[in-house]
Amino acid sequence: MSTIVVVGAQWGDEGKGKVVDCLSARADMVVRFNGGANAGHTIVVAREEYVLHLVPSGAVREDAACVIGNGCVVDAGLLLEEYDDLKRRGIDLTDRLFVSGFAHLVLPHHKAADGALEDSSSAPIGTTRRGIGPAYCDKYARYGVRVEDLLDDRDLRAKLEAAYAYRARWTGSGDYPPIDEVYGQLAEEGKRLAPFIVDTSLLINGYIADGKNVLFEGAQGSLLDVDFGTYPFVTSSNPVAPFAAIGSGVGLDRLDYALGVVKAYLTRVGEGPFPTELTDSTGEYLRERGYEYGRSTGRPRRCGWLDLVPLRLAARVNGLHGAVVSKLDVLDELEEIPVCTAYRLRGKIFGEMPLPVALIAEAEPVYETLPGWKTDTSGITSWDDLPKKAQAYLRFIEEGCGVPVVAISVGQRRDQIIWLEEVF
Ligand code: IMP
Repeated sequence: MSTIVVVGAQWGDEGKGKVVDCLSARADMVVRFNGGANAGHTIVVAREEYVLHLVPSGAVREDAACVIGNGCVVDAGLLLEEYDDLKRRGIDLTDRLFVSGFAHLVLPHHKAADGALEDSSSAPIGTTRRGIGPAYCDKYARYGVRVEDLLDDRDLRAKLEAAYAYRARWTGSGDYPPIDEVYGQLAEEGKRLAPFIVDTSLLINGYIADGKNVLFEGAQGSLLDVDFGTYPFVTSSNPVAPFAAIGSGVGLDRLDYALGVVKAYLTRVGEGPFPTELTDSTGEYLRERGYEYGRSTGRPRRCGWLDLVPLRLAARVNGLHGAVVSKLDVLDELEEIPVCTAYRLRGKIFGEMPLPVALIAEAEPVYETLPGWKTDTSGITSWDDLPKKAQAYLRFIEEGCGVPVVAISVGQRRDQIIWLEEVF
């Protein structure tokens, strides 16, 4: 038996979907444990591209069970759309999709509130507008509607009314879709989803007890974590590895290995501080070469140099055992590659994130510039064949954050990954 938790070590979009897909070849089960349809995990199989928002990336492997854990928030309509779309493309999840009854629903009024809050804020977060924040707010306020409520029509109606009444107490009645309409739609969706709704904690623990391989798939990235990220410019869940235990209902001793995905440079979508951001033609170059556009919203991603300061935080709070460096090939043509090793801030040097964390907005990055390798790495299949300068870049990352590099991804395809160690 083995389990692995795959998480993003930066601001999301590190290429987790591909890594999860590759590792899924050995997984009996893939479990999403945080977030919702704000995620956009891209997997390329031959000429087909799949972009998954809610369904775990293990879906495109025929045998893996796909679990949406209790730590997620579920947009029932979107989940069914994704299910139907996969079915049209020859991937049938009928007997292998499982949704936790304890997960909370993202309701139409959450999406409306998400958009309205962004539009009226003087400092918008740049959310995906998928209702994620308001859904988690209701969860923690104890006025959420859970997936299990779809199993009982009367209960569903009562919970929905309580959720609307709660929100009205805070924000007025708002411009929300009428409750009758929402109830009717949810009741329909509930009928279709009912066969998939189970106690997923029981199921996952059963798999582990039977000696099967379970992969926990994080969404977003560690720097978007609501506790450890660049608050308030974060998401509303905990995308870090230890949350895999809470977000899926397994004990801590069931998590064997934490694998962080680290993009060879850095991107961010939405607002918030980004000390190494490049707003010039080099940033534009990275965006075009790396095709850095959000998969959930189509927004262009902000691009910049790799930053070891928040990466050290990610290594620590995730307890990373190993790192996959992704998109190394995007840097192939560069003459030289700066990496931020520390911040200069108010006359001091910081190797770790300062307090208050918002100060990083005024941090001046201290760069160490490494030579580029000026070689096409996209077809390379072994460490020894990588250019020496690319090897040095990878070793530099490893030493800079204290986590061994266990794999390097050099392109979108499944075969474009070099494993240095077997981790799962
Ligand atoms: P929310 O998760 O939609 O509330 O958005 C909060 C912040 O997280 C915004 O900056 C989003 O752009 C960012 N975000 C949410 N999901 C992802 C993701 O999957 N990749 C990258 N950024 C994300």
